[in-house]
Amino acid sequence: MRQIIRIEARTHRVELSRCSTDMLVVGHFADAKGLDRTNSELDGKLDGSIKRVITLGDFKGKAGTSAVVYGNDRIAATRILLVGLGEKKKATLDSARKAAAQAAKTSVSLKAQKLSLALHKAFAGRFEFGALARAIIEGVCFGSYRYDEYVTGNEDGRSDLLKVELTDADLKITTKLKKGLSSGTVIGQAQNYARTLANRPGNVIDPPALASAAKKLARSLKNVTCTVFDEKEMSEKGMGGVLAVGAGSKNKPRFIVLRYESGAKAAAGRPTVALVGKAITFDSGGISIKPSAGMDEMKLDKSGGTAVLGAIKAAAELGLPVNVCGIIPAAENLPSGSSYRPGDIVTTFSGKTVEVQNTDAEGRMILCDALSYAVKLNCDIIIDIATLTGACRVALGKYMAALMGNDEKLIKQLQTAADDSGEKLWPMPSSDEYAEEMKSKIADLKNIGSKFGGACTAAAFLRQFVDDKKWAHLDIASVEVFDKATEFASEGSTGFGVRLLTSYLMNLTGKK
Ligand code: BES
Ligand code: MN
Ligand code: ZN
Repeated sequence: MRQIIRIEARTHRVELSRCSTDMLVVGHFADAKGLDRTNSELDGKLDGSIKRVITLGDFKGKAGTSAVVYGNDRIAATRILLVGLGEKKKATLDSARKAAAQAAKTSVSLKAQKLSLALHKAFAGRFEFGALARAIIEGVCFGSYRYDEYVTGNEDGRSDLLKVELTDADLKITTKLKKGLSSGTVIGQAQNYARTLANRPGNVIDPPALASAAKKLARSLKNVTCTVFDEKEMSEKGMGGVLAVGAGSKNKPRFIVLRYESGAKAAAGRPTVALVGKAITFDSGGISIKPSAGMDEMKLDKSGGTAVLGAIKAAAELGLPVNVCGIIPAAENLPSGSSYRPGDIVTTFSGKTVEVQNTDAEGRMILCDALSYAVKLNCDIIIDIATLTGACRVALGKYMAALMGNDEKLIKQLQTAADDSGEKLWPMPSSDEYAEEMKSKIADLKNIGSKFGGACTAAAFLRQFVDDKKWAHLDIASVEVFDKATEFASEGSTGFGVRLLTSYLMNLTGKK
């Protein structure tokens, strides 16, 4: 099986023209008046090739565009890649992240083994160098990723390792870049870890396999433990929601609990954060079966759970002084003679009863048990992340995830984390009107609402299982996947949530 590409990153103090590399990347704003000093020095040695590409209009600096200029004997790089940064006044850290992703994606396609980026130069003065370096490396990890572990043919060969360097001629600057570079590498690789787990199909990752992966992860990390409840233990505990959803598959459900206890003194004074991730390893809809077109995408219905694994990996590797509890209910939603059915009444872990009206609304059935479990563990803050509703996609399109919750401060903190990470969120309601729709005549709740506002009614259902805890809900059904490759990413899982949740945890600790 092929290994997912590995990234090795460092800083390198060197003049651009002397940088010996397969790909030297420089950025260009769409509204820039000419080249900046370092780029025009480089251009001098290239006999004006960069300027020519720009004056010809072949490259205008638009975001998502790029142009290759080939090196000569006066510069040490084989290729120079110009990447578009868009309009200068609209530039954010995410412009740098996306440009780096695009450069990395191009590098992997051209089979470059060494990638050198001078992208921060263009942004200098607008952002802190550490934050820029982190965004750039996160982007490199993101863009270089391809899910090809089961491709045995070699025609599209790539190297297993991409050596990446952030270059600058000034030692003061390379020193400042170093900080963000290491956290960016950790976070970027954690996100790719989550993408790989999510991309693996249902016949490879079933609930027990996901539990094994979580255990393996915990063994590889300092200060992380993992406990798994099997179906018997769940049954003793009364986790009726997870058990009902998992009843139709011979691959039995699992309830995965990870704990990251940093051990740092500072962590004791901070709230314990529960990250709850939906992990349906395959969602056929169950007896309320989905249409067959596109059903294969439902292997990604575990993306909330894999994002939680990625965030815990990053938090532990960064040694963040905070305590985190990862709770991942895992089940496979299949139709069979033992499936749960429409009409069933399920008693959940909280004791509340739920009338099942649609077996395809299974995410909330497993999450309600996990949320009550987080309450029982007395976590101070609960954040759940789930590919919960198609309605979220209808509402928001494919650019941002929905954010609901019961605590203004937590919602603001998540919005800040979204800005820092480039994983965008948009606020949506989950208030009493929506909860009203979820009342059943024959049980406490039913699992679907009316035809309208499906993302909000789903959130309003979950809200009823968090007691008085501070809670936020991220519906990532809109952003879990790229169905086609884009200029800065390959198709498949986006790993959405790893950067966001890690940023949230980092911000709690004041660490950048
Ligand atoms: N996993 C799906 C939601 C989903 C849909 C994620 C499309 C990604 C892309 C979820 O379990 C589901 O099936 N939801 C139903 C709820 C409905 C039955 C109330 C839906 O959205 O149709
Ligand atoms: Mn479903
Ligand atoms: Zn689902």
